[in-house]
Amino acid sequence: MTLHPSDALERKKILEEKFMCGIVGYIGEKKAAPILLDGLTKLEYRGYDSAGIAVDCGENIFIEKTVGRLDALKDKLKNRLPEGTVGIGHTRWATHGRPSDSNAHPHTDCHGNFVVVHNGIIENYLPIKEDLIAKGHKFSSETDTEVIAHLLEEIYRGDFVEAVREVLNKIEGSYSLAFMAKAHPDILICAKQDNPLIIGLGRGENFIASDIPAIINHTRQTYILNDGEIAVVKKNSVQILNRQGKSVDKKIFHVTWNAEAAEKGGYEHFMLKEINEQPKAVRDTMSKRIAKDGGAIILDELNWDKNFLDGIDKIYIVACGTAYHAGLVGKFYIEKLARKLVEVDLASEYRYRDPIVDEKTLVIVVSQSGETSDTLAALKESKRLGAKTLAITNVVGSSIAREAHQVIHTWAGPEIAVASTKAYTTQLILMFMLALYMAQICETLSDERIRELICRLKKIPAQISETLSDVEPIKTFARQYGFNEDVFYIGRALDYDVALEGALKLKEISYIHAEAYASGELKHGTLALIVEGVPVIALATQKSVYEKTLSNIKEVKARDAIVIGIAAAGDTELEKYLDHVIFVPETDELLIPLLTVVPLQLLAYYAAITRGCDVDKPRNLAKSVTVE
Ligand code: F6R
Repeated sequence: MTLHPSDALERKKILEEKFMCGIVGYIGEKKAAPILLDGLTKLEYRGYDSAGIAVDCGENIFIEKTVGRLDALKDKLKNRLPEGTVGIGHTRWATHGRPSDSNAHPHTDCHGNFVVVHNGIIENYLPIKEDLIAKGHKFSSETDTEVIAHLLEEIYRGDFVEAVREVLNKIEGSYSLAFMAKAHPDILICAKQDNPLIIGLGRGENFIASDIPAIINHTRQTYILNDGEIAVVKKNSVQILNRQGKSVDKKIFHVTWNAEAAEKGGYEHFMLKEINEQPKAVRDTMSKRIAKDGGAIILDELNWDKNFLDGIDKIYIVACGTAYHAGLVGKFYIEKLARKLVEVDLASEYRYRDPIVDEKTLVIVVSQSGETSDTLAALKESKRLGAKTLAITNVVGSSIAREAHQVIHTWAGPEIAVASTKAYTTQLILMFMLALYMAQICETLSDERIRELICRLKKIPAQISETLSDVEPIKTFARQYGFNEDVFYIGRALDYDVALEGALKLKEISYIHAEAYASGELKHGTLALIVEGVPVIALATQKSVYEKTLSNIKEVKARDAIVIGIAAAGDTELEKYLDHVIFVPETDELLIPLLTVVPLQLLAYYAAITRGCDVDKPRNLAKSVTVE
């Protein structure tokens, strides 16, 4: 079978990555280290905070690892590159334990006999670790991964493959794993569960990788592992086993992507890839934070109680750009669900306007990168004034994560396109969960309402997928209106907050002038700009203000604007008045921003394509704004 970028199913399989660390493995006749380093370089685009390699050197397994970029690892390896022809390498995106030399992979058991690299999360690592420590094992990192190497040491009785199988039966969670053992220099073993893993097939050599770009310069013949499969990789053979240890017949997939397309998982741009990753990013962010019976939100990172929240009389949410827009939605959630007053502020304004902040203030900063200079400065200022601080960020170990008193992470994985998409939706998820968590503590919602909202929340990933499945009308609108100079976005309540984000997306990547207005504000000035042929995107999903929104839409329509409506499935009214309506699946009106933002992201994307813009790197903008 041929693997082609347009093959959505295969592409999806490869994109199923939990956290975006990178794995490379080599076994053959050539020196392994340069191949591993080259493969890891090809995975750099995925983002990472530390890197390492392990190479079999006969006497021992050589390991070098470091926090920071691959260049730092290459520096450490200068003049001491190991000679061995079997090895594994890793780039880490921190989850358990901050980025550091000791937390970087590979990890080993007590004696360096077993070496492992891992993408994903081992959920039950704590009890396993406690048990192993009680048995005398010495741990040298804070990671969940290290338990795997020690478990292997504990279980191994001479059969490497069998020991790996037993280890896999004991761990729970998501992983792609690659193993080496000192006593078995002719074998690499790897295993997959919920994280991508492929085997590259060569002549007299074979490769392991978490993603195609790492091996595309060496081979295009691959096996794509399925969940539960284990591969025993030797230089002249590859055997795939299922969980029961039975051989699996595997078809070879021939990769036809070029290296550049492979980095983007076959998508034309990182932005489109990241838009499509949203169901997974959102699912990862909420998973493990919902009680098994679906009746409560668990935020282990916070240990808030009624006393703590009673002691807070003011909440600020402070952020920049898209994260600020997520903050606006957060205000809505916290006020509505937990009945606490929230102010949202732009970090660049907040830090200079002498905010009224004291020890009864909770300041929540939101930042994808965790490095935005204005947000960091606002956080430091809040701390100086005595506030309690909480960071919502996507990057473990980032400056903002380290500075704040408490942190909750979005698990969106690295966001590479300058325009933020999956970070926004995951920030919304955490804002919603935080508001529900506060509502639980303050008892501002009934148990039934909490349960009902959680039930709706759990459906969101699938509903985003559904929204993503019908892009053709959006492409058509973008082509039709892609060259207009002005576009207006209108909405009320949460629809207005999403309108702001939609307008920002269009501005930053397509360079079209776009403005978002609260629909009720139109008649106070902006209506003067609405004339024949002006495109207006009208969001109308908020039931409590639906009639009012509808009359605003009619006002605009009466001026002969071209109006594209965004509505919830089941709305039969809007179509009667509008030229076009894009429907998103029905959900609670609080959660619908997670769905309505998707067509707006896509509209911006396809408008930018129509205008021939550099989607991933728009002019004048940087991904991480670390200067004022
Ligand atoms: C817009 C965008 C920016 C960022 C802003 C804050 O698509 O990406 O507006 O949202 O620069 O960045 P973080 O979230 O990294 O603090």
